[in-house]
Amino acid sequence: MARKCTASINLSAIKANYLYAKSLAPNSKAIAIIKADAYGHGAIEVAKELNEVADAYGVACIEEAIELINSGIDNTPILLLEGVFEKSELILAEKHSLIVAVCNSIQLQWLLDASLNEPFDVFVKYDSGMGRLGFQDDSFIQAINLLEKSNNIGEITLMTHFSSADDLGSTLTTKQINNFDKIIKTEKYPCSLANSAAILKWSESHREYVRPGIMLYGSSPFSDKIPLNKLTPVMTLSSILISIKSFKAGQSIGYGSRYICKQNMQIGVVAIGYADGYPRSAVDGTPVFINGVKSKIAGRVSMDMVTIDLTDIPNPKIGDRVELFGEHISVDEVAKHCSTISYEIFTKITKRVYKSYV
Ligand SMILES: Cc1ncc(COP(=O)(O)O)c(C=O)c1O
Repeated sequence: MARKCTASINLSAIKANYLYAKSLAPNSKAIAIIKADAYGHGAIEVAKELNEVADAYGVACIEEAIELINSGIDNTPILLLEGVFEKSELILAEKHSLIVAVCNSIQLQWLLDASLNEPFDVFVKYDSGMGRLGFQDDSFIQAINLLEKSNNIGEITLMTHFSSADDLGSTLTTKQINNFDKIIKTEKYPCSLANSAAILKWSESHREYVRPGIMLYGSSPFSDKIPLNKLTPVMTLSSILISIKSFKAGQSIGYGSRYICKQNMQIGVVAIGYADGYPRSAVDGTPVFINGVKSKIAGRVSMDMVTIDLTDIPNPKIGDRVELFGEHISVDEVAKHCSTISYEIFTKITKRVYKSYV
């Protein structure tokens, strides 16, 4: 691998972040959300690392669950966060003892009609204000009534998902918690409400289960106004310098001549681009880290390369390692410069980037 464009993933940091989530909600079980290949970090490796400590895993679909099971992760419960997408998947879900979310009347009917050897444990989803998946109002209660009468159903847990827990100024989270508590009325069933933002800042939403996602990967669900120094960065994305050249003031750099040198400058080319998942939307000034100091993107990100300002960098050489984010540059800061969120950056890292685990 001569190009050396790598995502180095610190597995012990994931474990530390998981245990931190648990310490914030000490009376809850924590379902580690490792859908989308553990937010781009490698679901099998992450699950193996967490296996001694994780109470359960959450994935988006049955293929993601089976990938884990086939790799030997078969002693920790796995929740299908969106349930099954067609009735035939219930056969596989039963075979692998998966927990299924029930989010609508069709999934409900599939479960009630299935002929099973073993009952399913289910998470019944209430739409308390997210406006996406889940039963609304009375249909939630009707679904619970039907499920509790069915021999196909084992343990019932009630869940909801927040739309705005990352916005501490919003009243919506309190509203969603109140809507949820109002509809469930009794404490008959275990419940699950909190994502990372709610684990960190809305302790009133901590119930029997919490569902940490982005915080496991060392990224904050909040804007940078809320420092979260107890989260440890997990992925360090880096590559190497493959060119160093001098330019005169006024000369332009890269596609569209977006960056114009303000003075005589040294510009470096780094072997990473949008085909590796580094966002093309990164503006001039997006931070990078090289030879112990911060520098900046200068010029439009191209498919395989980015250009950076080397003017104030001590003794740059071809082959020097450049960090795009990770240990020294927060992914959240990069995401801000790209008008996106860390979730998107992580999950868009492509297979051309070599993942190494430490
Ligand atoms: C249902 C559900 N629960 C929990 C999470 C984890 O959210 P976060 O990554 O913000 O912690 C997600 C993520 O999208 C989700 O869809």
